[in-house]
Amino acid sequence: MIIGGPSSQLLAGKIATILGQELALCEYKTFPDGEAYSQVASELEDEVTIIQSTPKDSDIIYLMQLLDACREKKITLVIPYFGYARQDKIFKPGEPMTARAIASALNPLLGEEGNVYTVNIHARSVLSHFRCPAENLDATPLLAEKVRTLALHDPVVISPDKGAMEMAKNAAMHLGAKCDYLEKTRLSGTEVSMTPKEIDVVGRDVVIFDDMIATGGTMATAITLLRKQGAKRVFLAAVHPVLTGNAILKLYRSGVEAVIAADTLDRSVSTVSVAPLIAEAIRGIR
Ligand code: R5P
Repeated sequence: MIIGGPSSQLLAGKIATILGQELALCEYKTFPDGEAYSQVASELEDEVTIIQSTPKDSDIIYLMQLLDACREKKITLVIPYFGYARQDKIFKPGEPMTARAIASALNPLLGEEGNVYTVNIHARSVLSHFRCPAENLDATPLLAEKVRTLALHDPVVISPDKGAMEMAKNAAMHLGAKCDYLEKTRLSGTEVSMTPKEIDVVGRDVVIFDDMIATGGTMATAITLLRKQGAKRVFLAAVHPVLTGNAILKLYRSGVEAVIAADTLDRSVSTVSVAPLIAEAIRGIR
């Protein structure tokens, strides 16, 4: 049985369709005081798969509610977009490691036989905080397949920082293109600066690959830089389209040609589905 959390209903539906499994009927609402309410109205089976991304704090509460509703069942938990994964380290004294705190809160609800899957989690180290087996799935080949259909001119793959270089290399391999990275320094939560590397982009189509677009600051700066350097067209490919506030406006004002993202979060730019990737993983543990 597939249980789709409130932030992953469409993805859960696609996965249930691929697997030919029942999609549970669930109800979600918020009480007048702001508290979340969840109910799995369908009769629970012995093995359940809960699918819930956690872009907002309330999504973590819904997830905990679903896990509690499924206590004593064998649970596979899929968190396609794991919010707070960027808080994977203690950067200053007195800070919590929030990603660890979330995993620690979920551990007792997952039971002895639980399994966890994430998709391109920002820091794989977060998985080590789960007590049950936890695995990260890679959506890069799916994004690369979509990019391949764009008929690009002499393409080059760029990572906006060293952190996304592994993803960019993987994408470049699938596209048969070269890749490089930009040197990024984060100035604040919304501002980043970038130093150009020795990349020859003149007259070429560039695809920037990253795990996520949040405020759009990183990508907008990269697009502006690459266009100044003479890139013909600049495309973005990202797994998680968080897209807070005016992110899309920033990207288009910077001159992006198109934004390609996966459906770990359900947005208008989510044209690449990770449903087959997740379905295959779920099938593998049955
Ligand atoms: C950072 O290391 C990530 O890979 C992304 O580049 C970053 O989180 C994107 O954030 P924003 O869109 O707010 O610049």
